[in-house]
Amino acid sequence: MLAQLFRTKAIATETHSGLKKCLSAFDLALLGIGGAIGTGIFVLTGLAAATQAGPAVIISFIIAGVASAFAALSYAELSASVGGSGSAYGYSYVAFGEFFAWVIGWILLLEYGVGAAAVANGWAGYFIRTLTNFGLSMPELYTKAPSMGGIINLPAFSIIWVLTLLLISGVKQSAQVNNIMVAIKLSTIAIFLVLAGMNLHSENWHPFMPFGWFDTLDNGKTIGVLAGASLVFFAYFGFDAVSTAADEAKNPQRDLPIGLIASVTFCTIIYILVSGFLTGIVSYTELNTSSPVAFALTKIGYTWASTLVATGVLAGLITVLLVLLYGLTRILYAMSRDGLISPFFSAINPERQTPVRIILLCGFVISIIAGFIPLGELAETVNIGTLASFIMVCVGVIVLRIRQPNLKRPFKNPWNPLIPVLGIITCGALTAFLPAETWHRFFIWIAVGVVIYFAYSMHHSKLKS
Ligand code: ALA
Repeated sequence: MLAQLFRTKAIATETHSGLKKCLSAFDLALLGIGGAIGTGIFVLTGLAAATQAGPAVIISFIIAGVASAFAALSYAELSASVGGSGSAYGYSYVAFGEFFAWVIGWILLLEYGVGAAAVANGWAGYFIRTLTNFGLSMPELYTKAPSMGGIINLPAFSIIWVLTLLLISGVKQSAQVNNIMVAIKLSTIAIFLVLAGMNLHSENWHPFMPFGWFDTLDNGKTIGVLAGASLVFFAYFGFDAVSTAADEAKNPQRDLPIGLIASVTFCTIIYILVSGFLTGIVSYTELNTSSPVAFALTKIGYTWASTLVATGVLAGLITVLLVLLYGLTRILYAMSRDGLISPFFSAINPERQTPVRIILLCGFVISIIAGFIPLGELAETVNIGTLASFIMVCVGVIVLRIRQPNLKRPFKNPWNPLIPVLGIITCGALTAFLPAETWHRFFIWIAVGVVIYFAYSMHHSKLKS
């Protein structure tokens, strides 16, 4: 029994997944940037600045960025040497064995699935606001989940289906749409930075750290720069989707590390600039709104730019959704191919060269969650899942260096095991600053996953012990 739980998978020397190999290093980097820049920077920056960190939210972004960079380097090593489209799930299968791989895969499903549904809700908010700006409106019953007094959040439900159909139509088409959307998103940010840069008032940066480093309030809420870091960490989640595209990369050994490291570095720079400029043009106390970047531009007198930016954010959130859905389908695909989830789902449609059944399943489940459940605080649940998978990837680097010292590593971290150890420490520290309730939800999810493993997956695994 124990042997079965810890049976490891050999590293595939060749991949004949049937998926089309069409993504370049540039496509991969844009996939990471497309997946990362979204709700975190456009919405959570304001919330974190106003309620947790003040102008020092910039330090929160740096701390979260450093933790992500260590994880990205670890991802780079494993994606280049182990490969496969299952990301942290696939690496764990090779490094730790089946049971841990299943648990990590299960966590990734939470991370990507709930993340996509949460971002769809954020997108719906911007969509409804944009309609209002143009003098249009939707009946409220169709803009809210039942528990909020509505029937369904129709925009959130619909956007998931639109993107599901796009993914079914083939990955290269999706990558092209992604590239265009990322260009729009970056132009939006450039407009903001130029206008904000001309209107900075250094008095807005005083006091710089009004909430200190860390504290827990009586109501269980956490404040301070470190609590802010564990919230804005959401802004980085998504870059790791690059590693789920291994089977579709033209030259995975070279291009995956480039895509991963380039996207995290780029995002960190953008986040430092945007959060610094945002808190430099208006007082942090005013930023607790659902569209802080657009709000701040209106506040300093650029109404036209504010509308433009709000529209750009809509496009920006679509790329995040696309990448999260894409990543989710590829992780499920890998788990299904291994037999841990029914193999019915891993069939590749020969015409489209995409796993159509899995994409439809994801579209169905996520659209229901997005349409019927208001997700508010679930960003933190997503974060704990992401941090857990980052930590496992870092541990995986260390374990594989010991277990398979001669493995061909086209990208190798220097000063082994310094980088993964720093990744474990920084990501582990960020989980400690999340509220207790988040931990409870996380444990419940894992418990459900463990039950499924023993009831189904271990008996259907394709790996023979
Ligand atoms: N990092 C992504 C975002 O901020 C999930 O929306």
